Amino acid sequence: MDASVQRARVLDRHCTPRFLRPRRGVRVRSLAILGCMERALRRMLGGHTPASFLRRYWHKEALLIAGALPGFAPLLSRHVLFGLAARDDVQSRLVQRTRNGYMQDDGPFRRATLERLAARNWTLLVQGVNLHVEAADALLRRFAFIPYARLDDLMVSYAAPGGGVGPHYDSYDVFLLQASGHRRWRYGPQPDLRLVPDLPLRILAHFTPRHDATLAPGDMLYLPPHYAHDGIAVDACMTYSIGFRAPSYQELAEAFLDHLRDALDVPGRYADADLRHAREPARIGKPMQRRIVNALSAVRFDADDVARFLGRYLSEPKADVLFVPGTRRSRADFARRIARAGIRLDRRTQLLYDDARLYINGEDLAVTASGVNALRALADRRALPAEACADLPAEVVALLHEWQRHGFLAD
Ligand code: SIN
Ligand code: CO
Repeated sequence: MDASVQRARVLDRHCTPRFLRPRRGVRVRSLAILGCMERALRRMLGGHTPASFLRRYWHKEALLIAGALPGFAPLLSRHVLFGLAARDDVQSRLVQRTRNGYMQDDGPFRRATLERLAARNWTLLVQGVNLHVEAADALLRRFAFIPYARLDDLMVSYAAPGGGVGPHYDSYDVFLLQASGHRRWRYGPQPDLRLVPDLPLRILAHFTPRHDATLAPGDMLYLPPHYAHDGIAVDACMTYSIGFRAPSYQELAEAFLDHLRDALDVPGRYADADLRHAREPARIGKPMQRRIVNALSAVRFDADDVARFLGRYLSEPKADVLFVPGTRRSRADFARRIARAGIRLDRRTQLLYDDARLYINGEDLAVTASGVNALRALADRRALPAEACADLPAEVVALLHEWQRHGFLAD
């Protein structure tokens, strides 16, 4: 065996904690599974590795991938989708094409209203389906070659023939996966992004598509931000949009200022023992300005403050997410259970990390070296197998037990 390969393996063994090291037979099986997963990922990306896809297409060019997920079957029925659209903790909208344009209504919608819609020209769009349907979350996680911090949600649209939201562009990257039926997409790069004024929807005033393709179940279209597109249902169809998160710097700055304010502690109060007789009483004098500049220079931040803010901000659950406390169990019982069955994060839990901390659902915590590998593995894979859980340090079990009680783990 090549000496460098051998050394790399030895190093690998030393770097991998004992409980994360698979036994020999398990290792061969997991290598085969990894190979399969890699091939499926390449197929999903039109034959590209994640690296070549990101280099050539991400943010740059559209990519049509026929048979990205061969044999794909919808993850939820129209009936279930209508049920989600009826809930007030789920964002949904209904777009109908009218004789002179488009009409948009925001949900929730009663099932009867949706069932009574015309046979053509409408689309129901339901946001954040991954928060409610386990299989939708699993689909989103297939895009884990992009950091979780950039993943937004899975939106599902159901369209009657002729339905669509009109020619538009999005500010985010998107993968449009055809889940059932057929949709004709016209799309292309377009410098003129002016919109038709005074419409409830953002519709491009001058749509000049370069490409025209009809997608069937399992086909997928990647579009970079600001790429003009228009998808019209050929027959009754469902499209899944895997959307990415790219907050505006304004939004980040506002949230960062809120974060700073929460921890703000500026000592002292204005005082001027040297005050002089005011000849122009309306003037704000230089001495006062200098004092305030001095006092406010206590408001400081550094890269670590930004990192901490970012972790909290990115792991903050979506507005409508409510965690249901997990079944009450003693710590010992919990430890026994996870050693037997492993653990999985609840699909709504956001667990992220950086070099210094771990972030869970908007909170940060520093983790000692003994537990950090297992918790990072849990964050990356969203689960830990039983054999990994059998060997966890007591402080990690205590932390996981607390998360279980808050409902952050799948019960
Ligand atoms: C749709 O699914 O109808 C619209 C998705 C999009 O154009 O972004
Ligand atoms: Co779009």
